[in-house]
Amino acid sequence: MEKRELLYEGKAKRLFLTDDENLVISEFKDDLTAFNGEKKSSEAGKGALNNKISTELFKLLEANGIPTHFVEMMDDNHMLHKKVDVILIEVIVRNIATGSLSRNLGIEDGKVLPFTLVEFDYKNDDLGDPKLNDQHCLILELVEHQDELDKLRRMAREVNDVLKPYFAKIGLNLVDFKLEFGKDSSGNIILVDEISPDNCRFWDIESGEKMDKDRFRQGLGGLTVAYEQVLNRILGKN
Ligand code: C5P
Repeated sequence: MEKRELLYEGKAKRLFLTDDENLVISEFKDDLTAFNGEKKSSEAGKGALNNKISTELFKLLEANGIPTHFVEMMDDNHMLHKKVDVILIEVIVRNIATGSLSRNLGIEDGKVLPFTLVEFDYKNDDLGDPKLNDQHCLILELVEHQDELDKLRRMAREVNDVLKPYFAKIGLNLVDFKLEFGKDSSGNIILVDEISPDNCRFWDIESGEKMDKDRFRQGLGGLTVAYEQVLNRILGKN
């Protein structure tokens, strides 16, 4: 597969066209950003770790019947995947309260939620990714019908139903995560972007240690060591 011109550069990835109009290549960068780009850094090896973790998790989800954009991992920093029209809704799934949920609603940090919460944020950096309800999504024409919002919620719960017990088996609490979806060339809604410690929170079940991007957000250090731990546990190498 030939890597052609740069289509888009995001905060953590560069997207390239290929010689197949239905396929694109993501290059996972070592850059880190938080607080809507206000805090920036770079950690050597972070991109490759996220590519490898995402690859394993996309394969797991596909094996459990959840359609994703994943095609193959090409090398340490490159993933080949389907080209989609991205839906500009960040779907946030929460099992345990922390982060913006605790900050905004005063729910105790670490409280196990009585049921899995699914929220929608507007994928719009200029506006700071505000919360959306279903009516906002329809007024903004982020989707065509209410059915599609129902489908996003259903798929997000299915992802959680696969990932939460999977991570529990390798000693990690899946606290919360962000998913993105897109429409493929046939109009099917599929899971896109990445699933990595950049967009999930993992807490070690025994020690409570944070094994995700909160290490950067909170200045705890040891980010790539933690990401590598997550990958090694996924690969059964701990
Ligand atoms: O900050 P907040 O508590 O809302 O984040 C919830 C989850 O969504 C976290 O796992 C975080 O990493 C992820 N997230 C993300 N990208 C954003 C906002 C949140 O990956 N723009």
